[in-house]
Amino acid sequence: MTITHEDELDGLKEIGRIVAETLQAMGRALEPGMTTAELDAIGAELLEREGAVSAPESCYGFPGATCISTGDVIAHGIPGPEVIRAGELVNIDVSASKQGFFADTGASFRVGDVPASLKRLCTDGRKACQIGVAQVQAGRPIAAIGVAVGQFAAKRGYTLIRNLASHGTGRALHEYPEEIATWPNRDRRRITDGLVLTVEPFLSRGGLWAEDGGDGWSLLASPHAACVQYEHTVVATRGKPITVTLPG
Ligand code: CO
Ligand code: CO
Repeated sequence: MTITHEDELDGLKEIGRIVAETLQAMGRALEPGMTTAELDAIGAELLEREGAVSAPESCYGFPGATCISTGDVIAHGIPGPEVIRAGELVNIDVSASKQGFFADTGASFRVGDVPASLKRLCTDGRKACQIGVAQVQAGRPIAAIGVAVGQFAAKRGYTLIRNLASHGTGRALHEYPEEIATWPNRDRRRITDGLVLTVEPFLSRGGLWAEDGGDGWSLLASPHAACVQYEHTVVATRGKPITVTLPG
């Protein structure tokens, strides 16, 4: 969507705060031994308490309130009986709507002690997202996002998953301008004032593509490699972008 009135920004900020706080609470609750279904239930309850509706569930019939990806799964993992183990990364993606406004956020979390290389991947994944967000400004090319993230990834010896794009959001989970590459690309479209979009690069230690995980939802990295994702929903302005997916 394109924000044209202050009340639209307020509505977007409200759902942005809700998904951000839900993600934060789920990250805090995360501990070895719990199942991904138990973690999802925490998210479901928080969304419900806030009067928000899970977007993957309501828009796509996803079997869960949030996407929880563990082990080899890098995105769209289905919450279920799987037990979360110390030493691994867990990605949680929370998207939801309230009063017709949608916001989308995600983060990869470390469970207990993880190898230093995974710690670094998390720090750099967060940075890759920030670098992408910093490119969002009215008048600039959409491609600036992927070019900047791509330069950062190359400099640090990482790869980017090239078929999991960022996207427009706000009035629907996925909307115009549809796919926004977070890897080097030649998208000639420009960012317009008030445009609402996500920035969610998938930074990896070798993965290039997301491939079908076989259960209809989950996606694996190909070639197989560790991968993280950090996502924010932002509004483009003529100055600095407004990140709406922040806790209140
Ligand atoms: Co998301
Ligand atoms: Co998204």
